[in-house]
Order: sequence, then C-alpha cells, then structure tokens
Amino acid sequence: MQYFEIVGGSRLKGSIDISGAKNAALPIMAASILVEGETVLRNVPDLADVRQMQVLLGKLGVKSERDESGAMHLRVEDEMNCHAEYEIVSKMRASVCVMGPLFAKRRRAQVSMPGGCAIGDRPINMHVRGLEALGADSDLVNGDVLLKAKKIKGADIFLGGPFGSSVTATANVVMGATLAEGRTVIESAACEPEIVDLANFLNACGARIVGQGTPQITIDGVESLKGTEHSVIPDRIEAGTFMIAAAITNGDLELAGARIEHMRAIVDRLRHIGVIVERSEKGVTVASSRRLEAVEITTQPYPGFPTDLQAQAMALLCLADGNSVITEKIFPDRFLHVAELNRMGAQLRKEGPTVIVQGVKRLIGAPVMASDLRASAALVLAGLIAKGTTRINRIYHIDRGYEKIEEKLSGAGANIKRLSE
Ligand code: EPU
Repeated sequence: MQYFEIVGGSRLKGSIDISGAKNAALPIMAASILVEGETVLRNVPDLADVRQMQVLLGKLGVKSERDESGAMHLRVEDEMNCHAEYEIVSKMRASVCVMGPLFAKRRRAQVSMPGGCAIGDRPINMHVRGLEALGADSDLVNGDVLLKAKKIKGADIFLGGPFGSSVTATANVVMGATLAEGRTVIESAACEPEIVDLANFLNACGARIVGQGTPQITIDGVESLKGTEHSVIPDRIEAGTFMIAAAITNGDLELAGARIEHMRAIVDRLRHIGVIVERSEKGVTVASSRRLEAVEITTQPYPGFPTDLQAQAMALLCLADGNSVITEKIFPDRFLHVAELNRMGAQLRKEGPTVIVQGVKRLIGAPVMASDLRASAALVLAGLIAKGTTRINRIYHIDRGYEKIEEKLSGAGANIKRLSE
C-alpha cells in the first residue's frame, strides 16, 4: 500500500501547471457513446477515475486509447452492451454519466444504482426523473435502473432538488435530449463550467444546445452527432487546492492554465482572509505573507463556493486568527476529514452540517487516513504546514482526482514523498 510522507514547513514557490478537469473529462468521455466516428479529446488528466471510465466504456463497446501527444481517441465499435455493472459503478460514481448517452443512442440503459459513498447518501432520482420525462420507461432490476424507450421526445424538465441542481443529472439529461425528437427545456439546470464544457463539446459534434452556464438549458434534438476534437477545460478544483497550498505555506505560486473566472467564490474568500490573488498572463498568481483572518464559508452550487473545496478550505482556516464557520449545503455529511485534522492539533467542532473552526497557532504532523478524494487533499495541505512529519495512508483516493500531486508540489518546494509499505 502506498502512502505520502510529508515534512511540513516549506514555503511553496514557483509555477504549477493545472491539468484538465476530471469532472468535465468524465461526462465528455461518456458522451462519445453518442458520436458517429472518432472523438479526440485533449487535456484529459491521467487519473485513476479516467482509466476506470475507459474500462467501463470498453465494456460498452467504445474503444479508447491515448496517442503519443496524450490526446485520447474514442470510437464506438459495438453497440450491443448497454449495462454498466455494479462492479464498476460502485467503484466510481461518475459511471452514472453513461446513462443519458446509452439511453439516447441505444434506447436502452441499464445502470447499477451507485449507493452511498464516503461523502454521504448520493441518490440518482433526478437523473431517472429527467430521462423519464424524455419518454423512458424505468424499472429496478437487481439493484440496476433499467431505462427503455421506443421513441425519445423533447420535454420541459425541472431538475431542482433538495440541495439545488444536480451536476451529473443535468449532464445526463442534456446528453439524453441531444438526439430526441423536438425541443427540451431544462429548468434549474446546473451552471457548473463542466456542464458548459460538455455542451460545447456536444455542439461541436453537431448538437443544438443553448443556455449552458445558466439555469435554463434548451436542447433542440438532431438526427446524429459526428466526431470532433475538443480540449477539456482546466480543473478549477485542482487549481483551488493549489491556491490554498500557496496560502497555507505563506507561499507564492503561479497556477498556469487556471481560469480565475471559474473560481470567483474561492478567490473572494481567499482575498477576504488576506491572501493576494491576481490574474496573470499564464493563469493566476497566489501569494500570502501574513497570518490569515477567520471567515464564513457556505458551500453552494456554482457559482457559489464549491463543496469540492470545503475540506481544503477547512485545513487552511485551522491556522487563521479567530473562529471560522463552514457550512456544507451540498453534502451535509461530507466531514470525514474533521476527525483527522483534529488528530493534527486542529480545533474543529461539528454541529450538524456546520463546523466551527477555532484557529490554532500550529498543526502537528501525525499518521492520518485519507477517506475520500477531497478530504485526502485537505490532509496533504495540512501536512505541508504541520510541524514534523505527516503520513497519509490510503492515498489511492487522491490518485482518483489529482494528477501527480506529489510531483507538482515537490516541484514548488514541498517535501513530499510517495512511499510503499
Ligand atoms: N441529488 C439528489 N438526487 C439526485 C442527484 C443528486 O438528491 O438524483 C443531491 C445530492 O445528494 C447532493 C446534491 O443533489 O446533495 C448535488 O449533487 P450532484 O448531483 O450535483 O453531485 P454529482 O453530480 O453526483 C458532481 C461531482 C462531485 C461534486 C458534486 C457537487 C462529478 C463526476 N462529480 O457530483 O465531485 O462534489 O457534483 O458539485 O462531476 C469530486 O470531484 O470529488 C466530487 C465528488
């Protein structure tokens, strides 16, 4: 089993290249199911989740491979299998993104219900409801959702849920409607940049989608989609994580490729606590040279503060002056990092979906356990500034979503090593 050993205390300095966005790449890869001919994707990050999506697509008859430049080529070779099995879906929840394209193109999708995960209960009722509105008959078979239709017809669909819009449900319904007869209007659609990237990719393939990036998306169905080349947007969550790495180490980093316009909420909170964030020619620069101030953070759907940066922000606020308050409004149970940060000397008190962070003078290195992707990133950030050595176990969680994180951080001066037991 691999683990990270981090000796805290180095100031990060220099430049880090931001990879392509995992949460844009995964649905766009799934969208290749809809396409006739070859899809070529550039800037697809080299991650465990991406390789897992390639395995799933392979089972569904989509051949995918990378060329020497790293570009990924995908092509549908066989349309017989429409079943995303439990074995794969239970390992990676984003597998559910094949539901919309399978249904649209093959008129049949059988996708295992993903069940809960470390960040909480994760239902897919909104995905199913949206595709039912397009004409799907749905059934539950051995823990799988089975969707079938003879004809797919455009519809008006409301996709709001108890915690706001749903990102992958919006992706599934957009993909499901691209080949429908007539017009589909989605209200309360997710506005995330990853949805915009997916819609832009589909439009380049010949789809007719407008309104992406707003809560109302309109899709006029077309007969077929043709292959195209597309470059995936930079990962705003990876960029946000490195912004916090600069802030927590009193460092000075340039994040090459990062798009500040995708990160308004995190930039606002960082500036509020005293971090200097600027747009630069290559991307974004982040610098900090003093003790930071406490702040309130509430996670919300885009353009609000992303839940995928909540754990990392908590690690930073552990060292701010005074009491900060973090409220999680997307996944109210996404707090497995709290107990681990407390093992490193943090003063965190959880009350329902809120954590009160009492700032401390220092964190202290300890052996800690990664529990999910973003919680693991928070522990890496804490380790960068903790006194002494931090050992992070179960780092396979981090490899799901951060490309070469230890190389990127050590290139900027961090003392972090990947070791094996
Ligand atoms: N929800 C429902 N019913 C549904 C779907 C969602 O009630 O049918 C609820 C969820 O339980 C949650 C809220 O709606 O409370 C929002 O969840 P959403 O569906 O937007 O999440 P997701 O699409 O499953 C994506 C990202 C997550 C990210 C969330 C929120 C991908 C592949 N995953 O998940 O990314 O946290 O949006 O922004 O895009 C990560 O990268 O670490 C990660 C977990």
